[in-house]
Amino acid sequence: MVKALRGMKDIFDIDSIKFNYFIENSSKIAKKYGFGYIETPIAEETALFKRSVGESSDIVNKEMYQFIDKGGNDICLRPEGTAGVVRSFIENKFDKAGGVYRFYYHGQMFRYERPQKGRFRQFHQFGCESFGISDVYEDALIIMMIKDIFDFFGIKHTIKLNSLGCSACMPTFKNALIEFLDEKKETLCEDCNNRIKTNPIRVLDCKISECKEIVKNSPKMRENLCSSCDEDFTKLLNILDENRIKYEIDLNLVRGLDYYTKSAFEFVSDEIGSQSSIAGGGRYDKLVEFLGGKSTPAVGFAIGVERVLELIKMNSNEQDSIYIGCLDEKYLPKIFTLAKKLRQNSTVFVEYKAKNLKNHLKGADKLNARYCYVLGENEIEQNSIWMKDLVLKNEQLISLGGF
Ligand code: HAM
Repeated sequence: MVKALRGMKDIFDIDSIKFNYFIENSSKIAKKYGFGYIETPIAEETALFKRSVGESSDIVNKEMYQFIDKGGNDICLRPEGTAGVVRSFIENKFDKAGGVYRFYYHGQMFRYERPQKGRFRQFHQFGCESFGISDVYEDALIIMMIKDIFDFFGIKHTIKLNSLGCSACMPTFKNALIEFLDEKKETLCEDCNNRIKTNPIRVLDCKISECKEIVKNSPKMRENLCSSCDEDFTKLLNILDENRIKYEIDLNLVRGLDYYTKSAFEFVSDEIGSQSSIAGGGRYDKLVEFLGGKSTPAVGFAIGVERVLELIKMNSNEQDSIYIGCLDEKYLPKIFTLAKKLRQNSTVFVEYKAKNLKNHLKGADKLNARYCYVLGENEIEQNSIWMKDLVLKNEQLISLGGF
């Protein structure tokens, strides 16, 4: 039997309604915050992800959908959206032109991870990237926007925040951390032993309980921030306080991608199991320059759409669609024309086969329609059509003269 690839799935029925509802309304919110839509290709040169996400990250090391195309080019299906947007930003010379640029995007991402609940190999992100502003007001704006999105859909969440420092203070912290971890090598897992050499701050993020216990007493980035990073982080917390946005400071929050500097954040839900991160992001002031562009500060985020769909409470009747059928085929032309008029305001499904009332109601229910309209001899005599509201459970005759 033909099957979808492991970790990849079709989205249909109520999930596809929720999917479109989420993308549509998140896009509206992003536009209100001044973000414009950008569409970048799903595949990019592998080197782009290696350089931006980082050679030592799990994403690049273990999870890339990488292949050589027919022209011999080393290509990768995007594991995330930021790298492609930054590539486009540089390629289109926005860095040279200067000014502020804000983009939002959504689409498939690919990571060859071990599939489990909430973790897929093909998944969707809704994300935003803002370029040209170093003031932490922009970080606050981004956090407020994500919160607005989750509040719109009634999704409960906790905001976790940390500062990862900059190129001035991060190396001092890394050295202090390496010194601390070197002494604990025997107890740390094999992966963390490798991380000490490749990317020691990822040890702070290890899920193994022995490693978690050790890092409880490790040096903390917050204590090692330079004065500029410390001031920025304090300012960010103040702005969030002033705007009554609740957060938790998580000193071990490091994120799985290497490009972050300064503020990093995650939104988590306690209603969806172990894959609890529903959004992640932060500042990445060095990435544009690192990829060959003119130095430009930037900050952004991405929401994991599949994880959020689980949390959106919505029933398909909310689309208020109409099912319309007839008791005798001779009335089909009439209901077909009537459907055309009804479609000006609603989604309408026409049943072409004549059926009895009970079967029409079943058909309407199967299509998750809110209203079931049925036309028969009696209704024609009264120049009307029978209608049942399947949510409120009431029925009435509606005059055909009104259409
Ligand atoms: P990320 O934390 O790797 O960040 O991913 C963002 C979100 O995508 C996660 O919080 C999660 O909800 C979802 N996600 C990640 N992996 C999977 C998976 N295998 N299955 C289902 N959902 C998943 C980024 O990707 C950054 N590009 C975010 C960013 C934008 N930072 C700055 N700008």
